[in-house]
Order: sequence, then structure tokens, then C-alpha cells
Amino acid sequence: MCGIVGYIGCEQAGPFLLDGLERLEYRGYDSAGVCLNTGSELVVKKAKGELKVLKELTKNGKDLHGTVGIGHTRWATHGEPSDVNAHPHLSESGRFAVVHNGIIENYQQLKDYLTSKGIVFRSMTDTEVIAQLLEYYYQGDLIDTVIKVLGKLDGSYALGVISKDNPDEIIAVRKESPLIIGLGENENYLASDVTAILSKTRTIIRLENNELAILTREGVNIISTEKDEIKKNTETIEWDVSAAEKGGYEHFMFKEIMEQPAAISETISPRIKNGRVILDEIKLSDEELRSFTKINILACGSAYHVGVVAKYIFEKMLRIPVEADLASEFRYRDPIINDKTLTVVISQSGETADTKEAMREAQRRGSHVISIVNVVGSAIASESDDVIYTWAGPEIAVATTKAYSTQLAVVYLMALYMGEKLGTIVPEEYDALVNELEHLPEKIEKVLENKAKIQYLASKYFNTRDIFFIGRNIDYALSLEGSLKLKEISYIHSEAYAAGELKHGTISLIEKGTPVIALVTHEELIGKMVSNIEEVKTRGAQVMCIACDDHPEMETVGQTVFIPKVCDMLLPSLAVIPLQLFAYYVASLKGCDIDKPRNLAKSVTVE
Ligand code: F6R
Repeated sequence: MCGIVGYIGCEQAGPFLLDGLERLEYRGYDSAGVCLNTGSELVVKKAKGELKVLKELTKNGKDLHGTVGIGHTRWATHGEPSDVNAHPHLSESGRFAVVHNGIIENYQQLKDYLTSKGIVFRSMTDTEVIAQLLEYYYQGDLIDTVIKVLGKLDGSYALGVISKDNPDEIIAVRKESPLIIGLGENENYLASDVTAILSKTRTIIRLENNELAILTREGVNIISTEKDEIKKNTETIEWDVSAAEKGGYEHFMFKEIMEQPAAISETISPRIKNGRVILDEIKLSDEELRSFTKINILACGSAYHVGVVAKYIFEKMLRIPVEADLASEFRYRDPIINDKTLTVVISQSGETADTKEAMREAQRRGSHVISIVNVVGSAIASESDDVIYTWAGPEIAVATTKAYSTQLAVVYLMALYMGEKLGTIVPEEYDALVNELEHLPEKIEKVLENKAKIQYLASKYFNTRDIFFIGRNIDYALSLEGSLKLKEISYIHSEAYAAGELKHGTISLIEKGTPVIALVTHEELIGKMVSNIEEVKTRGAQVMCIACDDHPEMETVGQTVFIPKVCDMLLPSLAVIPLQLFAYYVASLKGCDIDKPRNLAKSVTVE
């Protein structure tokens, strides 16, 4: 979603602001803008559309003058994408400029109040009320004014504020929306995400809720909203810059698909020692683990699809009932959970608003939360009782691939770890599964080598209007992911169905030439799946299958992509690869903006 950058130093701020915004593009946006403090005035440049429009407008930053500035990429919530609604927003006289991520829930009351006082608004945004409030309450002290205005705001925010009267300061503050400070030599940075500043510094401070940072060239002071000084630890980011760059690939998504074997290795290797899964991150005693009568999984989007896979795996291997819930629905159904329920929260960003709130609801009801998160130090990672990090590295493409795969890897580790503790997996099975898990990255390499066949199939179907994905059991959970991947980046309408459900309505949508992708990886369900495939073929469907290579007869059932045979638990990690590649190649043939699909954002920080 929206991205924030800020710079205060001795160099011109423009080039860094534009570069930082470019590095935040992946979060999803529809307009961009910057504001520079020239020392005597605040100059704003902003434009609807891609960053290149802003770059042209500012002659690649050459028209931006000043060594202090803030910038923003906006993902519209209040008011359509337009030049005027883009951030930064100025107060009426131009004394203050503000960039904002999040949502001000009481903005309409505040706007009505300020309008009644004669203040004229230029935009439709909730953010402009912050700029106008700053001016309205200003009595000469910037910090006091910011603190006073914060007291008026309901909702979530990460804010960057500059003032014409304070040309040597940037103020940053956050509540429920991430914001970090980067520390340099005689220069300091502000960003909503480390990727924006990695090329400049690896030393950062993470702001917590209601902490206010005062950035000057010489340093950064952090205070509470009561103006008490706060001592913060700095953190060194281990990711190197190249991890957040394309490295010769045309798209981040393709690079990230190809990185999956390495990302899975990074995630599992440190946690398997001498054939045993060690999850030191889980602080629960064996007795506590045994006390759980239910597992509750909370997540959104693709992370939820991992949760659906996990439901099948946990129930089979741990013999505990599992519910996988969409985080956006969970809170509103008065869920039955308590201290006998283990909650597993899955999130790449660790900042998804619905997931975060669902997690808090589970904690309020006494449930112990283990989170599976990719972004170190994110809100979900910090607030959960235990966190197991996926070591996928930065994921830049909006459509997740390597984060999804590493989340699956953590699910396998958890199933093995807990299965051993609960005694629900016999030692021989445990040993065999751990052994196969250790070899999973090589098997994924093999599937990736087969990409030409998937590219060929994509070239046959990229012009279609609708596609259906079908499967049973875990293959159904994978169908959900295959369908989401395709529709989000190629804009082709697609649906995922449990194969047995087709004849309860959906089969009426199948007509001559409709492509159907059938996942047929589970040995005991092959017969049933082949029957379902025949049903759609009879109605004219063209069927592509994903099947294991120990069933060569599947070649005659449809156009079949084979994956290496592995144990049931690990099949999703192999079967998802052709689905990701298919979506990628179709979107590429259609000329879509693969890394930044329309209307989507990487990190969804609004509910
Ligand atoms: C789809 C996708 C999204 C995310 C969802 C949750 O490709 O990436 O569906 O999975 O928005 O995001 P996180 O995992 O950051 O909570």
C-alpha cells in the first residue's frame, strides 16, 4: 500500500526521494509526490499514475531543490487517484506538508469542524485534515503542535511532517502503520519499508506506536507523546541490496519463482539437526502442546491458502481439529476459541491489518499465537507469542510466490515438530518425512527445469476468458492458490472448485474450449479425479493436468505436466510451481504489469 520516504542531509534530497519511491513501487500505488523544504518555502510536486510521470515532471529530480524532503506513493482510499489527492498535502498557507499511510477514521468530523472555521480543503483525502489541523493549532512549536494534532486523530497512521518554519527537521510518528528511521553520516532517512533505504544504510530504528522521531542532519531523537525521551536500539538489516533488485530478470515475480529452492533451504536447513526438527522459536512445553484441543489458523489471500493446506496436514498428522479462517471474517463471528486453542497466524508482511486484528482477537480470548512471518520486526511478529520466520528475503512482486512456498515449509516443520511431541507420527514415518523435506529444494529445481512445457501451455490458453482449477483434498487448497495467482496478475476470470462440487452447479459454466486445470497429485484420489476430468471433457473442456511422474498414464487424460513423486505432505510445494509459472507466462503474453497488478497492494494495511 502507500509508501513513505524522507531525507535530511547535506545532499540534494530529490534523487534519494525518487529512488526510494521507486524501490517502494512494489507496494502498489496510483500516484506519487514529493515535497522539498527549500529553506524558505515548501515546494510540492505530485502526479497521478506511475512514478515516471513524476520523474518527467521534475526532470528526474533536477527541478527539486533542497536538502530536506518527504515523498509518498499513494494507494487511494479516500478520493480517487488524481494529482490533487496525491500526497504530500499542504496546509492552507503552505506552512506544513504531510505524507500519511493508514486511515483517519474520524476525518469527516474533523473536516466538518475545520470547514466551519473557514478552512478550505483542496482534496478528498483523509490526510489533508492532518495538514490543516497542524496549521489550525500551530502556536510556534512544531512538536507541541504535532502532539496536539495526534490527540485529535482516530485510526492508523505513519506520518512524515515538515514545516517551513523548521527547515532543519523532519517529524515522524506512527500508530498501527510501520515506519522506520535509517541512520547515516550527517544524513538520516525515513521510510515505511527497509527496501527504500537499503542502498544508503543498513542501520535502522523501528518506531513503535505513539513514538515520535525528530530527524535532523546530526541525529535522531525519539520521544513519547508525553515528550519523554525514549532510548531505542538500532538494528542492522542483513538483506543485501541485490536481494531487492531484479538481478537480470525481467520481472521480480520470475526471479522470486526461481529463488524458491534457495528460500526453502534457508528456511528449513537451520531447523533440521541430525535428522530432527528443532523449533526453538516455539516456547511451549510438551505438556502445553498436549493441552490444545483445537488449532485455529488465521490469514488472508495466499497466506490463507497456505492455511487451508495446513488444515489438511495438521489434521492428518496431529489428529487435532483445525479451522482455517479468513482473518477478515474471523472477528465478526464471535469465534469459539480459548486457552485450549493454538492459533497459527500466517503473513508475509506481518502488517496485514485484518490478520493483525484477528490475531489480537484470538489473544484477547486467551489463545496462544504462533506466527509465521517473513518481515522481521513487523507488527504480527512482535505481538505474537512465538514467531517462526520464513527466510524468503524481500519479496517485491505483489503476487506472492517464494513467501507462499516458505510458509508451506514452516507448516511442514511445525507438523513434524508437533507430531513428534504429541506422538502422532511413528518414528519411521518421521525419519522418512524429514529426509524427504531436506531434499525438497532439489525436487523443486527439477519442476522449474520443466518450465518450457508450461510456457507452451500458457501460449495456448492466454487468450481465454475464463479458466477453472479443480482438485480434491490438498489439491483443492492448491487450486485456490493457482486460481488467485492467475486472476490477480493476468486479469483472466478464474475459479477454483473442489472437483466433487462441480456437478452441484459449476459444471454449467463449462463450454466448448473452456480450459480446466486439474490437480491430480494424490494417489488415493486419482480415480475420482479422472472421473471428474471426464465429466468436464464431455462438456467440451480442454484439460491440463498436474500429476506425479509415477503415473505416466496421466499423459492421455489431458495435457499433463509431471512433477516428481514425493510424500503427500510435500506435494503442494511441487504442484504449486507449475501454477505460478502458468500465471506468470499468461500474464507476460498478455503484456500485463506483472509485478504491480492493477488495484493491488503488496502489504494491505487497511481493513
Ligand atoms: C496474493 C498475495 C496476497 C497476500 C495477502 C496476505 O499473491 O500476495 O493474497 O497473500 O494479501 O498478505 P500477507 O501475507 O502479507 O499477510
